[in-house]
Formats: sequence, C-alpha cells, structure tokens
Amino acid sequence: MRVLGIETSCDETGIAIYDGERGLLAHSLYSQVALHAPYGGVVPELASRDHIRKTLPLIRQVLDEAGLLASAIDGVAFTAGPGLIGALLVGAALGRSLAWGWNVPAIGVHHMEGHLLAPLLETPAPEFPFVALLVSGGHTQLIDVQAIGRYRLLGESVDDAAGEAFDKTAKILGLPYPGGPELAKLAELGDPTRFRFPRPMTDRPGLDFSFSGLKTFALNTLQHELPQAADPAQTRADIARAFEDAVVDTLIIKCRRALRETGQRRLIVAGGVSANQRLRERLTAALHADRATTFYPRLSFCTDNGAMIAFAGWHRLMAGQSEPLQFTPRARWQLSELPPL
Ligand code: KG4
Ligand code: ZN
Repeated sequence: MRVLGIETSCDETGIAIYDGERGLLAHSLYSQVALHAPYGGVVPELASRDHIRKTLPLIRQVLDEAGLLASAIDGVAFTAGPGLIGALLVGAALGRSLAWGWNVPAIGVHHMEGHLLAPLLETPAPEFPFVALLVSGGHTQLIDVQAIGRYRLLGESVDDAAGEAFDKTAKILGLPYPGGPELAKLAELGDPTRFRFPRPMTDRPGLDFSFSGLKTFALNTLQHELPQAADPAQTRADIARAFEDAVVDTLIIKCRRALRETGQRRLIVAGGVSANQRLRERLTAALHADRATTFYPRLSFCTDNGAMIAFAGWHRLMAGQSEPLQFTPRARWQLSELPPL
C-alpha cells in the first residue's frame, strides 16, 4: 500500500509518499519561517493562507519525484490535529477531497502519533514496548508505548512545553524566530559554569514537567547582569547555555525515572526539541550508563514533516481504519483517545 501524507498543522507544509514495501519514496517540506519572521512568531491566518498556496503544488512535486501518477496512491493521510485549526482545515479538506476524487480511503492522523512513530523510519528501528519522550513546540510528554495506539501518559508539562520555553527564552535574549535552534547555537558559545538555573520539579516524585519558570529565571538573570556586563553578548550566550543545560538535565532526570518506573530499556525521543544536539548527546550517554538504548528520528524528521504523517497513516490504513466523508480537524486532541490498531 502506498500512502500520501499531508502535514499542515502549524508553519510547515510537509508532503511525503510512504510505500509498505519500498519505504519512503519521496518527501518535501516547505517552511513558512520567512513569512512569520517579521512578526516574531507564527501568525495563524497567514499560515492557513500559505498552506492553501503550497499544498497542491508540493503534492505534484512529490508525485513527480517518486515517478508516480496519482492513480498509484492507495490512501491519503492528513494531520487532523492537534494544531492551528485553520491550518489543519486546509490539509484535511485537500486530503479528504483528493481521497474522494481518487476513490481511495483517507485517514486523519494525530500529529503527535506522527512524531512518536518517526524513529521507526530509521534503522535500526526500536521494537515495542518503549517509553517515548515527545518534546515539541506544543507538547512535552512521557508516554508508555506498548504498541501503536496503546499509549499511557506517564507525565507532561503543567505549563510551557520544552520547545515553547526555548522559543520564549530566545525572544528574551533578542534572538529571531524560530528561537529554539538559534538559542542552541548561541549556547555553544556560552560558559557552562557562569550561571546555574533550577531543574524544575526534579526534587519531588512524579513525571510531570514545568518549564515556564526557566524563562522568568532567564529574564531576571539578564536584567540583573546586563547593566554591569563588560561583554553583553557573552552574558547572553552564558544565559543561553545555563537555560539549555537546565532543560536537558531536567529531561534526562525524568526519562531515567520513567524507565525505572516502567522497567523499560528503550527510549525514543521525538518532536522538534529532539533535534537539539546537546540533548541527544547527553541523554544517549546517560541512558547508556543505565544500559538502556535511545532512538531518535533523523534531524529533518524531528521537526514537522510529511513523512511521519504518511508513515503513521499507512499503519492505520493497513489496519483497516479510515475516515468517513465528513472530516473533523481537532485543535486539541489527547493521544490516549486514539484507538489501538
Ligand atoms: O515538532 P515541531 O516542529 O512542531 C510542533 O509540533 O510544535 O517542534 C518545534 C519546536 C519549536 O519550539 C522549536 O524551537 C524547537 O522545536 N526546536 C528546537 C531545536 N530545533 C527545533 N529546540 C531546541 N533545539 C533545537 N535544535
Ligand atoms: Zn510537531
């Protein structure tokens, strides 16, 4: 079965074709970063309009790259949520209509299930069961994964998601949108010994996270240090490093705890923040010491992409699941509401 995947939940249009026998045949991404950059963040209405412009041309391009006619597509998967409702509506309306026109089944994919399954596109792919750490712009969750669709939430952020904390702290430091990767770059120049930020909620039991206090800590440190700083650029870099170290340490502490509590030996990490090099290196080393193995998507599939949607949709369509003609995008949607395969 060959599935066309359409991702339009936020500020990237991602298209891909996944084939059950041959794997990923083609994928392409159009990023709206330049469109939103002047506003310092994603403007939902502009995002929706741009998805309308880009989705169909990108589908044509990906079909061409795969050397396929539309008649070779056996199913269409589109992101049905969670995300920006207008942006979701574009992908859902186009995806559902194409499937109707081509007379093939359609499936609305949960965006976070897409992220969660992305490491399975790599070799070696992790075997089930495993613990998943999902760290994106909208979510920070630890999930006990027994199989596709069998998800038990172990813990999540009670306020900002890890990616959101990166983006807000980047803004405080005067970095351009999108802030996460920019902050990570600046942190490379920082002195790890100058400031120490707290590791929130690690001093009590449980697997929940809280990241919103870290951006306030960054703001207070900046306001306290800048007036007397001999080298303001270095001070900013030192704060970026202290912030990144605090997020990474916190995630490592909770991941170790989650593996201990579930008795699992495999951790997968996915979502935009899983592209963070310091997180990947330090988490892999820490878990290796515990004799656990860590799995990540390739860097380009950490952030939003069409491949993960085509892949997740393929699994669900193969299991016989599909959408009726009336589709329902959902801005909010819990992973635990998904049916098992
Ligand atoms: O998964 P994603 O592309 O979109 C959502 O589903 O939210 O994640 C985007 C988030 C943003 O907050 C971005 O700043 C963050 O991932 N991000 C990073 C890095 N690359 C992306 N954060 C830290 N370090 C990075 N290298
Ligand atoms: Zn995402």
